[in-house]
Amino acid sequence: MAAEWWRDAVFYEIYVRSFADSDGDGLGDLPGVRSRLPYLRELGVDAIWLTPFYPTPDADHGYDVADYVDVDLRFGTLADFDALLADAHALGLRVIVDIVPNHTSIAHPWFRERPEYYVWSDEVPNNWPSVFGGPAWSLDERTGRYYLHLFAPEQPDLDWHNEAVWHEFERILRFWLDRGVDGFRIDVAHGLFKDPELRDEREPFPVTAFSSDWRSAVDQPEVHPLYRSWRRLADTYDGDRVLVGEVVFSDPKRIAQYVRRDELQLAFNFTLLFAPWDAETIRRAIDGTLSALSDVGATATWVFENHDVPRLPTRFGGGADGLRRARAALLLLLALPGAAFVYAGQELGLEEGELDDADRQDPILARTGGARKGRDGCRIPFPWSVEGPGFGFTTAAPWLPMPASFGVLSSASQEADSASTLALCRAALRIRRELGGALQWVEIGPGALAFTRASVTCAVNVDGEPFELPDGEVVLASEPLSDNRLPAGAAAWLR
Ligand code: NOJ
Repeated sequence: MAAEWWRDAVFYEIYVRSFADSDGDGLGDLPGVRSRLPYLRELGVDAIWLTPFYPTPDADHGYDVADYVDVDLRFGTLADFDALLADAHALGLRVIVDIVPNHTSIAHPWFRERPEYYVWSDEVPNNWPSVFGGPAWSLDERTGRYYLHLFAPEQPDLDWHNEAVWHEFERILRFWLDRGVDGFRIDVAHGLFKDPELRDEREPFPVTAFSSDWRSAVDQPEVHPLYRSWRRLADTYDGDRVLVGEVVFSDPKRIAQYVRRDELQLAFNFTLLFAPWDAETIRRAIDGTLSALSDVGATATWVFENHDVPRLPTRFGGGADGLRRARAALLLLLALPGAAFVYAGQELGLEEGELDDADRQDPILARTGGARKGRDGCRIPFPWSVEGPGFGFTTAAPWLPMPASFGVLSSASQEADSASTLALCRAALRIRRELGGALQWVEIGPGALAFTRASVTCAVNVDGEPFELPDGEVVLASEPLSDNRLPAGAAAWLR
């Protein structure tokens, strides 16, 4: 396998319970994913990232793991996983799995049998809030002590200062590496170690970008030797296995510390995910990221969507304008130097789904007394065909209701339309293979962004006046163009 394949790979995130249901229970599963691999191959992505499919009581939809080395029966079996991996590899697709080392499920046997693996205190020791609302400390009735949970109370944080926890996870990583996975997406990768003195965080706390500026609940120096040891472990395997950290900081220089040469290969960079549709902000995000990462010799990653934030067309204003901008953003994303992450459904231009509170399942809704609606709207299952209510995702009732609009947005209806977002994404992924080299800005004017990489130029009119495209043949455009002019909310690639 090619060395450093991950440097410019396109990873496709599959929220397993929302992708394809093979057994008619309304929940997506591993055989469902397996059956859709040819679609992904044709789309042209390089790798898939599977969100957690391990046994879980589902307090946070699988990010509360009760057993790290098995498959939840609702999602399949280990044999199903092996079959999925074998098929993916046969199609030239790499597979990374999600590892959740910051916390376990409260139902993990360790919580009762190995309490010393967790973070405890006799009193509530500090002001740390749970990311999902309320305090980060809960009383354990059995012991009369408080345990830490940066997320839901059903997700107790592990104490990484205990070396036994290191050994447990080494075994877990080996288990999946031995099965042949191409790497891991590491959940809350910056959060594993806490300040040993559990000092207060500065208030006010960030609401949207979790922990983006935290100091003591996350980002302790002890995390770096851990990742060096994980990297050494991954490097003992063939095939260039990759470690991708979910490192959530607003300052890319802090992210860069995690991708120094002997640590993780990649870390998510959420600067675009938190940027409004504004040319100056986007340009600053790109420049800041590239300069911070090149200082440590790392490659950038780019993300506009994932299972934790509202869908892009909705974030960018909704309706026809939102979709236009999301299509332009897709061409921007896929032209940038480095690795790109596409969230399942982004290639269809799916909008955030409207849901009744009674249908919502994300713990954030209840933990914040309804003040925050939670993340269900971006987790609505993938529409494969035109007919509801299951839209080819399931023959049963889908675990979240799917809106009627998903029929026209389904992959089947977009297949038949050469102007669809799916067709645009496929074409971009094909042409992307020709892109190479560093990014060089071309100055166009206010509200616009343009850069070249080798022989290809990407131009985006964010919200400026229509402008004349630079010289070259238009090879791809997010909107039909007239007179070689790029209107607001459109992007084009030229050669
Ligand atoms: C980040 C994951 O992306 C999110 O879905 C999850 O709730 C938290 N980590 C806690 O595991």
